[in-house]
Amino acid sequence: MVVLELNEVTMRFGGLTAVNRVNLLLNENEILGLIGPNGAGKTTIFNMITGIYTPSAGKILFQGKEINGLKSYLLTRKGIARTFQNIRLFGELTVLDNVKIGGHVRSKGNLFGALTRLPAMAEERRIAEKARSFLAFMGLAAKEQELARNLSYGEQRRLEIARAMASDPTLLLLDEPAAGMNPQETMALMEMIRRIRDKGLTILLVEHDMKLVMGICDRVAVLDYGEKIADGTPKEIQSNQRVIAAYLGEAG
Ligand SMILES: Nc1ncnc2c1ncn2[C@@H]1O[C@H](COP(=O)(O)OP(=O)(O)O)[C@@H](O)[C@H]1O
Ligand SMILES: [Mg+2]
Repeated sequence: MVVLELNEVTMRFGGLTAVNRVNLLLNENEILGLIGPNGAGKTTIFNMITGIYTPSAGKILFQGKEINGLKSYLLTRKGIARTFQNIRLFGELTVLDNVKIGGHVRSKGNLFGALTRLPAMAEERRIAEKARSFLAFMGLAAKEQELARNLSYGEQRRLEIARAMASDPTLLLLDEPAAGMNPQETMALMEMIRRIRDKGLTILLVEHDMKLVMGICDRVAVLDYGEKIADGTPKEIQSNQRVIAAYLGEAG
């Protein structure tokens, strides 16, 4: 089954075409890598899928239905969650509360009530329990009472993933989750992303760490100057001449 489809999707900012007629298909339970030099349009694609921008042209389909122009909170409720390239956490809240917020976007309870009142309601307890399970899943169980801002960079990235998972997504978009991580942290993250997929989620992964991308993705799509220049298995992508040229162009 196709979870996400981008059909000739274009995003223009004034005179700049950041994304130009891009087609993408994500099948259920697949990990698709989205790579390309800085400025290629990767984050812009995430912003269109999550309702931050409405495409200038083309269609985005989620589970077969067009989602162009839908508001972010509605897309979260439909089952699309993401992390951000620039970490967005509530630094002055605890690790646990950051994840509980992720759980509340899909519940009817009042968020601020939830953070200040005693967790009397069954709904509250359920959200807290689930939040703890996601923290454990991401290796952060021991940190639940720390303030988010006191976590290391790598821990904050994992916390963002735990928070995204708390909204119970079908589709998870990860924007450079390994940025700032050391090689050991990156390898541990790779295993966690695999286990998230094994839970049944579908994942779109933007990442510069090629070991991570090539080690984990079923397929990889490559963007350059807003256009998709290649799409294939990691093996096919690594030997693709257009891809190699795009990356050499960046280095030089
Ligand atoms: N809100 C915006 N207004 C104007 N230009 C933008 C905006 N967002 C992104 N861009 C431009 O679109 C291009 C693609 O950016 P981005 O999607 O962030 O690339 P990537 O994530 O691949 O590094 C860049 O040239 C960037 O400057
Ligand atoms: Mg980006």
